[in-house]
Order: sequence, then structure tokens, then C-alpha cells
Amino acid sequence: MELDKLVDAILISAKYRHISPDLVRRVGAVELAKGRKLKEAVKATKNKLHQVGGAYQAGAIDFDRALVEMAAVADDPDGLRQLCRELMQRHASTRERLPILDEFYSTIFAHLPPIQSLMDVACGLNPLAWPWLPVEQTIEYVAYDIYADSIGFLQQALGVMRVVNGRCQTRDIIAHPPTEPVDLVLILKTLPCLELGEKTAVSTLLDGLNSRYLLISYPVQTLGGRRKGLGATYEQQFQALAAERGWQQYHRFEFATELAFLVVNGRN
Ligand SMILES: C[S@@+](CC[C@H](N)C(=O)[O-])C[C@H]1O[C@@H](n2cnc3c(N)ncnc32)[C@H](O)[C@@H]1O
Repeated sequence: MELDKLVDAILISAKYRHISPDLVRRVGAVELAKGRKLKEAVKATKNKLHQVGGAYQAGAIDFDRALVEMAAVADDPDGLRQLCRELMQRHASTRERLPILDEFYSTIFAHLPPIQSLMDVACGLNPLAWPWLPVEQTIEYVAYDIYADSIGFLQQALGVMRVVNGRCQTRDIIAHPPTEPVDLVLILKTLPCLELGEKTAVSTLLDGLNSRYLLISYPVQTLGGRRKGLGATYEQQFQALAAERGWQQYHRFEFATELAFLVVNGRN
């Protein structure tokens, strides 16, 4: 079958060998359905995968070495934070949060009751921001993204940071939208990216989520800083989404590199 061939052709490439096969299949099926020949559909699928994931890979991490280094500073809060900052540089989107990291979670969590469970969808390297999260060490924490190698590393990194109920999973959150009940879901700078992959992706994700609060954020400039002032566009997108979803209670936070909205979702 053409779709199987397409998936195989993409998964053997060095750039995409760790990416979620479900995602490749979903994107590839759309490209083949446009009547494209296999070779063209492979190319078009790779372009889409680059837009939704590949573009954010800002440098390889030596995972084994990083884990050894993390273990060495596990009992040194300043050393651990410094190392996590260095590692978070390797994901273009997570990197953009570094200048505001000291204020980001502390400001937002001041508007929340104690959180017992947290889901980070399309997490990038954000689980390495654990030392900045104002939560108990024992909370349930689950993170999803599409790169199996990064996710495997993040799972081990949570262990080193003694996150006892932490789970990182490779998952295409549009093919398999998460539905488990949680207090808070982080959807950080992800909705515009998901929409690039499929127009209905945002509704698919939001319809499935079962959480009391949502933290939705947007970048204020394009990757590489080409287009500044993006915040106003995303502000409008969020307002439209809030009206459509009937979200009446939310807080707005404007940081130097990110615009965030904490929404009372009321489910769960
Ligand atoms: C703009 S980045 C945001 C990363 C992270 N939330 C942050 O703010 O630091 C978008 C992320 O979405 C992930 N992604 C894209 N499509 C996805 C999908 N269908 N399922 C899960 N993750 C996805 C990418 O791999 C990438 O890490």
C-alpha cells in the first residue's frame, strides 16, 4: 500500500527516524489523498513534518552524557537549574522561554489553587523546566511530544529530578487526543503549530481535553524573529477561540517572549 511505503520512506531518514509513526501516517494520508505520486507525497509530508516539529530541533543532545551531568547536580538546585537551562537551548521554542523562565510559572501559578495533576501537551523540552514549577514533587505529571528519543530522555531526566509520578510518552496528540482528567493542561505555543498540520487539529485536541484549567500561550515573534508583533494576531485568535468555546473566565499574561492565557475550563 502506498501509505505504508510513504511511512517507511520517511522513518528511515536520519531526520525523522525517531518521530511518531502515527503522525507520519496521518500527515502522509492527507498528502496522498491530494492525488500526489508517492515521491511527491513523501516530499510534501517531510515539509509538513518540518513545519510542525523538525523546525524546532535546535541542536542534538548527547542524552547519555546529559543524564550523567544531571545526576551529578541533582542535589544542587542552582547547578541543576543552570544545566536545565543549557539543555533547553536545544529546542527553539523552549529556548525562547529562557529569558522569562524565572517569572513565567511563578506569576501564572499565583492565580491557581494547588495543582495535583499536570499535563504538558506537545511539550518540546519543557519538562526540563520542572525546577521552576511551583508544584509538589509528588504531583502527577504527564508530557507528550512526537520525538521518541527526546521523550525517552525526558522520562529519565524526570527520574533524576526525583519526579515520582512523572510520565513522558511519544504521542501524536491529534491522532490520539489525551482525555484523562487533570487539574491543568499546558498548551504552550502549540496551537498555531498544530493548525499548520491540519485545520481541524485545534478543535480535535480541545474537544478531548478534560481539565479544570488550561494554560494556552503563543509566541510573540516567528521562529528566528522574522516577524515581530505577532502577539496582536494571536491575541485575536485567542479571543475568537474563547468566544467559540464559551470561555468567560481567564487571566491574560504578557511576557517579553510569550503571550499566555490561563483559562478556567471547568471540566473534570
Ligand atoms: C512550538 S513547539 C512548543 C514546545 C513546548 N510546548 C514549549 O512551548 O516549549 C511545538 C511542539 O509541538 C510538537 N508537536 C507538533 N505536532 C505534534 C503532535 N501532533 N503531537 C504532539 N506533539 C506535536 C513539536 O514536536 C514541538 O515540540
